[in-house]
Amino acid sequence: MTRIILIGYMGAGKTTLGQALARELKLQFIDLDLYIEERFRKSISQIFAEKGEEGFRLIEQRMLHEVAEFEDVVISTGGGTPCFFDNIDYMNRQGTTVYLDVPLERLFIRLSIARAKRPLIKEKSDDELRTFIDEQLAKRAPHYKKAAYTFVADKLEDRSQIAGSVDKFIKEIPFDNATTHGTIP
Ligand code: S3P
Repeated sequence: MTRIILIGYMGAGKTTLGQALARELKLQFIDLDLYIEERFRKSISQIFAEKGEEGFRLIEQRMLHEVAEFEDVVISTGGGTPCFFDNIDYMNRQGTTVYLDVPLERLFIRLSIARAKRPLIKEKSDDELRTFIDEQLAKRAPHYKKAAYTFVADKLEDRSQIAGSVDKFIKEIPFDNATTHGTIP
């Protein structure tokens, strides 16, 4: 049984790499944010607006516990998922967790063109965004670093880079084991 769980900051490429990886490995792909949006028939921004971040984190934890029971999947989580409650320890018990590590400048470039759908950054100017990423990364790093593996995901900018990153991931990360990380088969 394979259950790969991708974690990392917004813009780290969890969805992009996760989708491509799942296709290559013939596994189902689940994006936690999308799963939440479909279940609640609301966008993440709407949930933040209606319930605040605290309400969103409770829903996120509950939905994580649903998707992390599925088998033969690649799951991409939200940037904050491993940083609340005991989520990272739970994910480590459920599957092979991989932290997608991306340098600040690359995150900034990716997020500056894709901030509209992300409630935590959508109102920020470029300068504010760079400072925000920098500060949040410092706070979140200890959680991210609890992942079983780290994968440098700085090359996902076009189809050929994505294909190259998928190959590299498959070579570097020993995910294909009957025993998932920390659990009894
Ligand atoms: C968040 C990241 C988002 C989404 C929500 C909060 C965060 O997911 O879960 O907007 O706290 O970093 P992505 O990392 O997929 O953008």
